[in-house]
Amino acid sequence: MSNEPGSAETGSPPAPPAQEVSVSRTPSPNKPGPAGSSPPKPSPPKSGSARSSPPRSESGRAAAIDSGANIEVDDAFDDDRDSAIGDAQTTYTSSLASSVLDYPVEYGRRYHAYRSGRYSRPNDEQEMDRLLLIHEIITLAIGGLYLAPIEAEKMTRILDIGTGTGAMTIGDEFPNAEVIGNDLSANLPTFVPGNVKFEVDDVESEWLHDSKFSWIFCRYMAASIFDWPKLVKNIHENLETGGWCEFQDFDLLYYSEDGSLAPDNPLLSWITTLTNAAQSLGRDPNPGSKLEGWVQDAGFGNIVHRRYKIPFGVWPKDPHLKELGAYNYRQLSEGLEGLTLRLYTSVLGWNEEEIYALLAQVRRELNNPRIHALFDLHVVYAQKL
Ligand SMILES: C[S@@+](CC[C@H](N)C(=O)[O-])C[C@H]1O[C@@H](n2cnc3c(N)ncnc32)[C@H](O)[C@@H]1O
Repeated sequence: MSNEPGSAETGSPPAPPAQEVSVSRTPSPNKPGPAGSSPPKPSPPKSGSARSSPPRSESGRAAAIDSGANIEVDDAFDDDRDSAIGDAQTTYTSSLASSVLDYPVEYGRRYHAYRSGRYSRPNDEQEMDRLLLIHEIITLAIGGLYLAPIEAEKMTRILDIGTGTGAMTIGDEFPNAEVIGNDLSANLPTFVPGNVKFEVDDVESEWLHDSKFSWIFCRYMAASIFDWPKLVKNIHENLETGGWCEFQDFDLLYYSEDGSLAPDNPLLSWITTLTNAAQSLGRDPNPGSKLEGWVQDAGFGNIVHRRYKIPFGVWPKDPHLKELGAYNYRQLSEGLEGLTLRLYTSVLGWNEEEIYALLAQVRRELNNPRIHALFDLHVVYAQKL
């Protein structure tokens, strides 16, 4: 099935506006997407205490599996030295908490602590605000939070991979489901719906969930994942039969359709260098267009693939694209430092002055009305048959 602009999807959920390009590999399911659901309005992120499960060490993972035997007691807890026990407890739990919550700060930006260095963007309020703009962009582009033909009241267990603040919204949208939000950061608002549970874990580690999911959602993990085919297979394995997966992801490389974004333009050379740096670490910055193939290889059926063009700036004539472009301009101009600092310093060896000089040029091009840059968002959803 083609993925060319203008190609149409048959029997699929009703097509949003003209700029949307949709592709379907197999007949799409009968039920349309989240009928009439309007983009949920993000509430401002609040910092505060996290409701997270503690991180699990690899050996802890194995030990946590119930083998039928009683758990062996640590020697320090097996005698009558009460005060020693209290000390050991305090020391152990505070070092565990610090391994998740003591976020390192570099160049004035805050990063995740669990498996430190694994993910290259910050987890501070500024980045959370950018993610809310991304949420606005995606929900506006696709016409809701999701496209899979799932029935909210039938969802029992949902997993949101690399959730950021996303699990809150999903928890609200699916009040009957238990929602698990997975992330490397326990970077959560104080108020979360009661049906949401957070799991601080690397989604590329072995999955040890005790029961299967009815829907697994994976949004904006470009430049985060080392082994996409394995992740997609894991998702397949951990879904119940009849369950759905949904991926919403970008190809992060920018382009123009009218040649206005020339190869030597600083905006294009900045993002090309950035995506090459992510690629050199083995993290695919452009997973969007490959998702359909990975989903097919993992054994899913009823696969639907849609592509959406997301402009940077208000240059499009179409009012819907103009609005998308305005949000996208904002998220990029606010996110430039956060997107750039870690990869340009640690992978490419740039110093801060060099980075800020480059970002000044990038910002200038972003404000240049003659540059008509865009990138692609891909949505792929599919069913475990
Ligand atoms: C770009 S943000 C997207 C957040 C959210 N999915 C959204 O759409 O707003 C990527 C998120 O994935 C998390 N992340 C990155 N690598 C991860 C991994 N290996 N395991 C779990 N979470 C990860 C990051 O901490 C971050 O919160």
